[in-house]
Amino acid sequence: MGVAMGGSRTALAQAEDPRGLTIRGNEFLLDGKPFRILAGAFHYFRTHPKDWRDRLTRMRAMGLNTVETYVAWNFHQPYERKADFTGWRDVAAFVRLADEVGLKVIVRPGPYICAEWDFGGLPAWLLKDKDAPLRRSDPAFERAVDAWFAELLPRFVDLQATRGGPIIAMQVENEYGSYGDDHAYLEHLRDSMRAQGIDSLLFCSNGASQDALKAGSLPDLLSTVNFAGDPTGPFAELRAFQPEGPLFCTEFWDGWFDHWGEPHHTTDPAQTATDVAKMLEAGASINFYMAVGGTNFGWSAGANLTGSAYQPTITSYDYDAPISESGELTEKFHKVREVLAEYTTLPNTPLPATPPRLPAQRVAVQESAPFMGALDALSTPVRRTTPVHMEALGQPHGLIHYRTRVRGPQETKRLRLTGLGDRALVFSDGKRIGTFDRNQPDYSVDFTVPGASSTLDLLVDPTGRVNFGHEFNDPKGISGAVLLNDEEVHDWEIRRLPLDNLSALKFTSEHTPTGPAFHRARVHIATPADGFLAFPGWDKGMVWLNGFALGRYWSLGPQITLYAPRHLWRKGRNELIVLEMERTGSDIEIRSTPDIG
Ligand code: GLA
Repeated sequence: MGVAMGGSRTALAQAEDPRGLTIRGNEFLLDGKPFRILAGAFHYFRTHPKDWRDRLTRMRAMGLNTVETYVAWNFHQPYERKADFTGWRDVAAFVRLADEVGLKVIVRPGPYICAEWDFGGLPAWLLKDKDAPLRRSDPAFERAVDAWFAELLPRFVDLQATRGGPIIAMQVENEYGSYGDDHAYLEHLRDSMRAQGIDSLLFCSNGASQDALKAGSLPDLLSTVNFAGDPTGPFAELRAFQPEGPLFCTEFWDGWFDHWGEPHHTTDPAQTATDVAKMLEAGASINFYMAVGGTNFGWSAGANLTGSAYQPTITSYDYDAPISESGELTEKFHKVREVLAEYTTLPNTPLPATPPRLPAQRVAVQESAPFMGALDALSTPVRRTTPVHMEALGQPHGLIHYRTRVRGPQETKRLRLTGLGDRALVFSDGKRIGTFDRNQPDYSVDFTVPGASSTLDLLVDPTGRVNFGHEFNDPKGISGAVLLNDEEVHDWEIRRLPLDNLSALKFTSEHTPTGPAFHRARVHIATPADGFLAFPGWDKGMVWLNGFALGRYWSLGPQITLYAPRHLWRKGRNELIVLEMERTGSDIEIRSTPDIG
């Protein structure tokens, strides 16, 4: 297939102008010279921007020559208004920083990215209509993607290696062969990228099977494979599909992610090194997925759906990567570095030390604000005849509350829900009477109206949108019905609770032993450094540090501590707010080492 795989660049053009990444036979050329891609995944959206340089430097120190990142659309455009490319969201600045550190860049702009990230990176507002067609040649979906690409891609144009910048390649979609086989959609994305000035090498990555490769590749683009373990089988599959062209493992899974309530995953560093050595021996290029662990800050964790089992992903995205979530150089880092050293020249600088950490301490909770009492401070209600999902009301994340008055008297009936994402606390006249859970669809609770009417409250707590697989439309809140015996309950007052700003909360020193409630603690920090927060005795919730949503904690484990990077702490007074759904613990622990199970 030769150079034509470079996309719009012809053999002739390449001879005259060998800039950028091209293909000759089974090898990559960069600016006309043989180049092996030694890349690592590092998601700028999962690491505080003030740590970007630190982590990139560590990648370079491991022997990598390239950083690979997805772009998470919903990180830039959570609401259906102008996309944000400032500060943490300045992805072009990330690319320039990589260049400064001496790394080339591979960008995977999706629009779908999977990545254990909420809704695979798609913005929640695409689910206004909960059944909206996604990831296929649907005019509305493609229009939305084109508009996003028109905002995003021009920022990369001058940063491409074809124009002297660090970006050497970009991916079209993500493992599309595991989802569908709509080639017209893939062609549309390719053309949309080209139309925005992307003239870099484009590739399609897929699972290492003929079916996935066939369904998810375009004949004029390079095909690559993603896998864990021994490369022999997967590369044979790739060769069978694409007889000529460089072998490239675009996601070498050197670790794995975790779900709440399931054991923490680790992989053996020595085995990783053995598999990497085989890949390098075969002349292949590699992208470590992940090179740098990260964090699903705030509400950004995704979920899986296996059969009908919904499995929410934890807050940490440490991934058992060579460079940990908090920047530590692990045993895997050293083992991989030894192997890479045989194939590349390592930078001649000392290895960076672990970033500084806070001393361990306990912080007492000083004040509380019961959630139900804070509804007015946090939201204004809207009325709907039937409950609607949060995306239909323009809400991307947070909680959502539904209230109605059920006329009585009525004898005890079975209260049930359909279309729940993902947990709902149920209250009758303010008293907690049960919990609905998406994984227990048959659950019901007795509901009685002794007098003229009773208030029914449902507080829905979503735990991440599905990011992989076929049943991908995963609206949050209630998208079905609330039923008393078999009759629908109508006339709802609905409150959006994105919890973007908690400044209106009124805390008092009264102790609130049961949730849902907010709790506030103040802590003095002499010198900001990385901290790891644990919640002994607490059950499930979300925590904010100085107004920044760190993420979810849950007694189900495996994750015990939440990573609180040094740049979020202030010298002097710091404020922690905890939203606990069930039971209040006594204090919050700041630890100086992570514990993710
Ligand atoms: C696939 C996806 C990635 C990620 C990994 C698992 O390969 O392409 O985004 O979800 O699986 O971590």
